[in-house]
Amino acid sequence: MKTILTTMTESFEEAFIAAGYDAKYAKVTISNRPDLCEYQCNGAMAAAKQYKCSPAQIANAVVSKMNQSDIFSEITVVNPGFINLKVSDEFLSGYVDEMSKDEKFGCETASHKKVVIDYGGANVAKPLHVGHLRSAVIGEAIKRLFKFMGDDVIGDVHLGDWGLQMGLIIEQLRCNQPDLCYFDDSYTGEYPEEAPFTISELEKIYPEASAKSKVDEEFKEKAQVATLELQKGKPAYRAIWRHILSVSIEDLKKNYENLNVNFDLWKGESDAEEFIEDMVKSMIDNGFAHESQGAMVVDVMEETDNKEIPPCIIQKSDGAALYATSDLATIIQRKRDFDPDEIIYVADKRQEMHFTQVFRTAKKTGILDDKCNLKFLGFGTVNGKDGKPFKTRDGGVMRLETLILDINDAVYNKVRDNRDMSEEEAKTISKIVGLSAIKYGDLSNQASKDYIFDTERFTAFEGNTGPYILYTIVRINSIMKKFEESGKRVLDSALNIKLSSSEKSLMIELSKFNMMIMQAYEELAPHKICAYVYDLADAFNGFYHENKILAESDEKRQNGFINLLAVTRRALETAIDILGFNAPERM
Ligand code: ARG
Repeated sequence: MKTILTTMTESFEEAFIAAGYDAKYAKVTISNRPDLCEYQCNGAMAAAKQYKCSPAQIANAVVSKMNQSDIFSEITVVNPGFINLKVSDEFLSGYVDEMSKDEKFGCETASHKKVVIDYGGANVAKPLHVGHLRSAVIGEAIKRLFKFMGDDVIGDVHLGDWGLQMGLIIEQLRCNQPDLCYFDDSYTGEYPEEAPFTISELEKIYPEASAKSKVDEEFKEKAQVATLELQKGKPAYRAIWRHILSVSIEDLKKNYENLNVNFDLWKGESDAEEFIEDMVKSMIDNGFAHESQGAMVVDVMEETDNKEIPPCIIQKSDGAALYATSDLATIIQRKRDFDPDEIIYVADKRQEMHFTQVFRTAKKTGILDDKCNLKFLGFGTVNGKDGKPFKTRDGGVMRLETLILDINDAVYNKVRDNRDMSEEEAKTISKIVGLSAIKYGDLSNQASKDYIFDTERFTAFEGNTGPYILYTIVRINSIMKKFEESGKRVLDSALNIKLSSSEKSLMIELSKFNMMIMQAYEELAPHKICAYVYDLADAFNGFYHENKILAESDEKRQNGFINLLAVTRRALETAIDILGFNAPERM
């Protein structure tokens, strides 16, 4: 379905041509002076230069060709040559009606891509912390947006399960429990099925090991050796590694589920391991990689660069694989498994250089052809109110679990305050509303920007927040329920065609749905969906306050109101579903 602006522009194109001017000047936009008009066409200003006459002359000539238009109720030329527009009630209502009957609310794309989205990026054996929030939340929204637009999308968590942290854990485990069979070189039996640690033990082992490696050089070297031996396939270390993986993944799944984040694939860096040897060899054989201080590197600096882009290191001097190596090998694996048109990486923006190096190496060495687009969606830091990276009260790293509990508690206190609901219901609702607070709080910021995590602001029921959006949906539900309880029925699916002013404003917002979603899709910009949803909720609340919906005595008019409510609810629900949260029955 064409966007409303496209439809309007097309009608002006005909008028520009009929008046003897180029159609390229016909663009209609949303008004930047909503006090004067709803839409505008400013093309006469630019056309005046080409045709060497006054803009007003062109605007008047064009407008004289528009007198049959059923799209606009008002077309006014104002000095020096702007065309101010108001849409007609009937056209607007018809447009929203058509949109509401479309499964995708009028959104469409020319082609359907196959896309891998690499997000989440949790590291096994380390608890999820606030730094992982954004990758999960933004990545999930992007995945849902692409699915909504009809793309074939595969979301991959891409676990960090192959780096030095594995060797560190192995060595720390050796210190803590030297008698385990994994450390007995003469052991020949099967390794136990059961892990020698629980998740909470595992979560203590890593920080212990990591701290020790910073002060104990010998320990660090041992961990590096263990990492390499693991990567080369030492059975005892592979057995420990499998334990770490299974214990961690079980816990991660729970955590991601609480965030309503679902991956299609639970692959990790280790899954690309089988490609590494051949890949490195072929890069060397084909002259792409060369030795530098014992390591193997690929030069990726280009002539047009105005800053230094260091070479991409694909193998360390001891032969170990690095972060870039596993990302490159993963590209090979994804190409083999999915042959995607696009791979999108959602990661901290401080990793931008890493991805520049990886993308350039992939293209340069030919492991990926030009058909596949590699995109990096880098996000900023989550800060506390002091503007510094978000920490716990005592200055520690904020675990994601704790953050979620804090938010849910804050919502619980509000919900409990003035409602007559059972404790159980209040808890369930707090979870649903809490999730909207976290996700909306995050997604409403442009991804690349840092933002301040403010529990109080995020959980407010008024203002630009997730709970406010949910509150609006709950309000619609409650009106609908009362309407049904009054014994009345919906007559037909028609919307009104003579509109009150707030009713019209609401329809104008609804008519933007496809435009806004498609823009967010093209720009990988979920924050634009948030901004839209907020405007839509606001327009609805304006409508709600200005019209007596349930008390309306004109049955047909009330019917139009109720149908408008249903369309608004669907638009809001569709949008928040893309953002990755949903509304409770009541709150
Ligand atoms: N595990 C990484 C981290 O915690 C993020 C992974 C991002 N994805 C990737 N393909 N490198 O920083």
